[in-house]
Amino acid sequence: MNIILVGTQWGDEGKGKIIDILSQRVDCIVRYQGGNNAGHTVVVGGKEHIFHLIPSGILHEDKICYIANGVVVDPAVLLKEVEGIVKAGIRVSGRLKISGLAHVIMPYHKVLDALREGKRANKIGTTGRGIGPCYADKINRCGIRMLDLLNPKIFAAKLKDNLKEKNEIFRKVYKHSGYEFAKTYAEYLAMAKKLRGYICNTALSINQAISDKKDILFEGAQGTFLDIEFGTYPFVTSSSTTAGGACTGTGVSPVKIDKVVGVAKAYTTRVGEGPFPTEFRGAFGEFLRNKGHEFGATTGRPRRCGWFDALMVKEAVLLNGVSELMIMKLDILDGLKEIKICVGYKYKGKVLKEFPQDLEVLKHVSCIYKVMPGWQGVTTSARKYADLPAAAKNYLKALTDILGVKITAVSVGSSREETIFI
Ligand code: IMO
Ligand code: MG
Repeated sequence: MNIILVGTQWGDEGKGKIIDILSQRVDCIVRYQGGNNAGHTVVVGGKEHIFHLIPSGILHEDKICYIANGVVVDPAVLLKEVEGIVKAGIRVSGRLKISGLAHVIMPYHKVLDALREGKRANKIGTTGRGIGPCYADKINRCGIRMLDLLNPKIFAAKLKDNLKEKNEIFRKVYKHSGYEFAKTYAEYLAMAKKLRGYICNTALSINQAISDKKDILFEGAQGTFLDIEFGTYPFVTSSSTTAGGACTGTGVSPVKIDKVVGVAKAYTTRVGEGPFPTEFRGAFGEFLRNKGHEFGATTGRPRRCGWFDALMVKEAVLLNGVSELMIMKLDILDGLKEIKICVGYKYKGKVLKEFPQDLEVLKHVSCIYKVMPGWQGVTTSARKYADLPAAAKNYLKALTDILGVKITAVSVGSSREETIFI
């Protein structure tokens, strides 16, 4: 079975936890887009692990983990993660495969990320990891790939070419001193030497695994509304976070994908700028942020919080072909008097039932809510659907009805055990 797992909101849906659980049931776990802008927190045996680049499946010793061609790789971050995993006593060698075609995040990408943000009137609120500038170079056909790092001559030529143009931009546009060839060259060659053993043709390897009837999990980073095509552009990331990205990002044909699983939080959060119709104002937002520990795993920024937006998730179900939805962090809603689900928008007196593509509309909509009674007591101890309070079951039932998709798992706490499969 080949499964794509995607976030259906603005990222941070709790994909990391589901990936960790599903990883146990598959043979290979594949990252296909994004880079170390992602942050997956996994709690195992009370110990918290945060992954930015390597699939968290690496914690399961018998699994093969891939960083495929669609990912942008910061080699320093990757090496640090490898070291951390090795230090935890887990073998990485032979279990981590990195695409030679993956583009490399260079020091100038990170600085450009910040400098460009500084010049924008409408800041995106990027993670500052150089993701956008690296993907821009990829599309501009001047990027440097993992394979290039393995060939000192080619790498030198490409780096020189890049620095020639970029240093001029740095100096003239940003009044920044730019980058010295020798230092960057030596630094990246040294890292490439350490990574050489992991770099291979991942498209071949993953397709071979599929032919060998292995089970593959394609783990999406970020979420549908951060997608470069369908997200709330320009407040998005620079990759295809929707299910299609798993095919272009790996070289696996769409006909080989068996299903797409969506992950949604029981409410909505967003880090960074951009419109957010159901966002809480004032003290309640603060309360939920603290209760749900809604602070970015990558940058530590406070996440903006709001009610579940069914228009958004419905759109995500459509765009990704989601046939199963997993609802995360239900326990954070414990003890509320009432809970709201956004079921429509109002714009200039008209009712919208679809998520609008025009940001100018989205910015100015007001929400139409279905208000549901909350539940008292805690859901964290529930281990099966029947254990949940009636009002919590009603909330989940309402989501299923509105979204037209079945809910197959509900998370009621951060650990693996605190998950109900339906
Ligand atoms: P996970 O995998 C939440 C957001 C940033 C910013 C926008 C662009 O943990 O769900 P970028 O650095 O990618 O150019 O920033 O995207 N963003 C995320 N928000 N979770 C993430 O990853 C994110 N990765 C990027 O906050 O708004
Ligand atoms: Mg995150």
